[in-house]
Amino acid sequence: MICKYLVTLSILISNAVTASCVWDTLDGNPTKLLGHRGEKAFMPEHSLGSYHMAAFESADYIEPDVVASKDGELVIMHSEWMSDTTNVASIPKFADRKRNFFFNGTYAKINRTDFWIFDFTFAELQEIKLVQENFFPYRPQYFNNDFTILSVDNYLDLIANLTNTMNRTFGIVPELKSPEVFNWLNPSPNGRWFEDKLLGILEKRGFFANQPPASDPLMVGGDLLNEVMNIKPANYKAPNYKRAVIQSFDPDTCKYLASKTKIPIVYLDQRTPTTYTPKGLDIVAKFSNILSMGKEIMLDGPENYFTNEKIAFNKTQIAEMGGFLNPEQLVAEAHKRGIRLSPYTFNDSRQKLNYYCNRGLNPNATFCPTNRKEELFYFFNLGTDYMFVENIFEAQVLRLAYDYKVRYGVDA
Ligand SMILES: *[C@@H]1O[C@H](CO)[C@@H](O)[C@H](O)[C@H]1NC(C)=O
Ligand SMILES: *[C@@H]1O[C@H](CO)[C@@H](O)[C@H](O)[C@H]1NC(C)=O
Ligand SMILES: *[C@@H]1O[C@H](CO)[C@@H](O)[C@H](O)[C@H]1NC(C)=O
Ligand SMILES: *[C@@H]1O[C@H](CO)[C@@H](O)[C@H](O)[C@H]1NC(C)=O
Ligand SMILES: *[C@@H]1O[C@H](CO)[C@@H](O)[C@H](O)[C@H]1NC(C)=O
Ligand SMILES: *[C@@H]1O[C@H](CO)[C@@H](O)[C@H](O)[C@H]1NC(C)=O
Ligand SMILES: *[C@@H]1O[C@H](CO)[C@@H](O)[C@H](O)[C@H]1NC(C)=O
Repeated sequence: MICKYLVTLSILISNAVTASCVWDTLDGNPTKLLGHRGEKAFMPEHSLGSYHMAAFESADYIEPDVVASKDGELVIMHSEWMSDTTNVASIPKFADRKRNFFFNGTYAKINRTDFWIFDFTFAELQEIKLVQENFFPYRPQYFNNDFTILSVDNYLDLIANLTNTMNRTFGIVPELKSPEVFNWLNPSPNGRWFEDKLLGILEKRGFFANQPPASDPLMVGGDLLNEVMNIKPANYKAPNYKRAVIQSFDPDTCKYLASKTKIPIVYLDQRTPTTYTPKGLDIVAKFSNILSMGKEIMLDGPENYFTNEKIAFNKTQIAEMGGFLNPEQLVAEAHKRGIRLSPYTFNDSRQKLNYYCNRGLNPNATFCPTNRKEELFYFFNLGTDYMFVENIFEAQVLRLAYDYKVRYGVDA
């Protein structure tokens, strides 16, 4: 806010640049961009190609979703089933693997007939190829069957290789999918086989020992452009840390992870109304440094959103917890507690914006973006710390344009 005042003044008086302009994120730096399943907009998700492209689009973090094979290898796939994003259904020798799987956990709820990743050994998974979901005409289908399913170790090897070849760091942001399912399939004394397996891999690769400082140094002037372009300043020193965060929709998993590692934990909220109150944030702050939610909540405000979604909440309880926080309050109250926010998922501009307000169903939305620039600027302006994005290139262009606006008061 002070920044905006200074910008206005400086433009009036001398057009001088003020150095005091910063973003409204917790550390004052530009929102960090997390490549959703790599660069899912253009490559089969979670493939070497998808991760490679995300790196060359200068994503700050590159996201893998973690599941496990029959023989206990941590592998990467968004869902526990495989028919959406692989060619498994067209491989005759695996035809008899298709089956119903029902799971009624506290957080993981599955009832579906499909091919299941945990019915295949890692060696068998190597015979299956990745394909692009065929939802949107702009998504190329010609990379289908070029890439195979990766293990977490393959992914980490690739990130290490890209770090070397590009001489820059990338954050990793593994998400543990349905921990209840994988811990049930792989019993262990503490019931946390899945979490322990990932933590073991990360520890072995030095992610425990070398954590970055909680906040990055404040960027100024052309720092963001240089970072996107991978241009090093004269005094550049390669960091001696490895950047990682771990995510899960399972709050018990988040709590367990937080007790075992200093790596920041992203709590993916499964639309729990009480989370969006001051006392709800107090609870989150005990086990998570980053709260991630569907982006619509941060546009509508929680009351509006849960009402539209017909998700019941207890008004007395919400009031007792301090009441629902509107989007601006949510950012301010989260930041006060040291929690950063990371809404998902910002799609390619060729996909229509699909908020309630875009469908004419929400006259009460805080703001109703009509294109991706308005959408991202709204979230940048709120002080969103991280964003899961597809078409990282567009997000980079818009982030640079917004950075220019913050620093120089000029709308690009
Ligand atoms: C799932 O479990 C819950 C709690 O035990 C129970 O209330 C619900 O009926 C179960 N759902 C199904 C589909 O079995
Ligand atoms: C699982 O889904 C099938 C097909 O939709 C349905 O018929 C069945 O009742 C469901 N089972 C449970 C336990 O919910
Ligand atoms: C990483 O680089 C090593 C050494 O060049 C190579 O053997 C390996 O295949 C690479 N792995 C990935 C996943 O790129
Ligand atoms: C990485 O960049 C720095 C700064 O430009 C340079 O000193 C260093 O030699 C580079 N390392 C590699 C492996 O290219
Ligand atoms: C709503 O919350 C209040 C306060 O926590 C509680 O006393 C009341 O029983 C709850 N009502 C329902 C219907 O759960
Ligand atoms: C945006 O992407 C997410 C994740 O892939 C997807 O669930 C959602 O439906 C997409 N939204 C639109 C409007 O296409
Ligand atoms: C908009 O807000 C008003 C006042 O809170 C409320 O009465 C109305 O039901 C809301 N409309 C919708 C569509 O949510």
